[in-house]
Amino acid sequence: MQMQCYYQAEYEQAFQQLKSRLAELKVQLNGQAVEKINARFLRLNPEMALVIDSDGLSLAANGMKMQPDWRAEIPRLKRASLKSEMIARACQLGEKPSLIDATAGLGHDSLLMAYLGAEVRLVERHPILFVLLEYTKAQAEQDPFLKSFMSRIQLIYADSNSYLQQLVQHGEQVDVVYLDPMFPQRDQNQQAVKKQAQVKKQMQLLHLLLPEDGEMDLGDQLLHLASQIAKRVIVKRPRHAVYLADQSPDHQWLGDACRFDAYFPKG
Ligand SMILES: C[S@@+](CC[C@H](N)C(=O)[O-])C[C@H]1O[C@@H](n2cnc3c(N)ncnc32)[C@H](O)[C@@H]1O
Repeated sequence: MQMQCYYQAEYEQAFQQLKSRLAELKVQLNGQAVEKINARFLRLNPEMALVIDSDGLSLAANGMKMQPDWRAEIPRLKRASLKSEMIARACQLGEKPSLIDATAGLGHDSLLMAYLGAEVRLVERHPILFVLLEYTKAQAEQDPFLKSFMSRIQLIYADSNSYLQQLVQHGEQVDVVYLDPMFPQRDQNQQAVKKQAQVKKQMQLLHLLLPEDGEMDLGDQLLHLASQIAKRVIVKRPRHAVYLADQSPDHQWLGDACRFDAYFPKG
């Protein structure tokens, strides 16, 4: 895989570090030093690229840029409690579970779960998203509020299909596996289509980075693997989406926009 990177000249060292890290993940990073990366520059260079500027490392495309900005989540974290958060009830976060988030993405759900007490392993298979997560975690370790629970977050670069398979083979058990795979195919339900018109900038860029629906692995296999190693499997879905792997859950928590389907594997 190849990726373009624009960086402001003063961030040459950060670019070189990123280039070596991505080379380890088998991505060739082609760099171009730029005097100033501003909105106009991004509009004039709409193709997908990584960007390093005073905001740190971001992913840019179509004139927008985004990053898994964990610091921006702090106000939400401060409002969150075990009682108020549906995800906390679904994953029983009050019991400080060992938890694998097998579809890390921007890590926002895991950030909340780690804050509320879970020991989280975040697994992400996309190399660009993975380096964005690594960068964000390193930033969070410097933040006075976030650093207090960063030791509960571990990042793992892997495809969860093989990672979970390995845990099955080693007989390793965890309390919870959390799954939030990409949305179901557009034609699977109308509500998902409606929502996609309004997805936030972050989600729009995520959709550009990740494969098209047709070639996408929708995560059905993950449910089967997760059920072999976890006491509970929690699947986040858009509220009206079809069940993952067509399997009806043992319990559900319904929110306005999304729901959590719970599976309690027997034995
Ligand atoms: C909808 S996003 C998850 C969003 C996340 N819950 C959050 O709060 O930011 C789905 C992510 O799962 C990743 N993913 C999907 N299948 C995966 C697999 N088998 N192994 C690892 N990562 C996977 C995709 O690359 C994508 O980044």
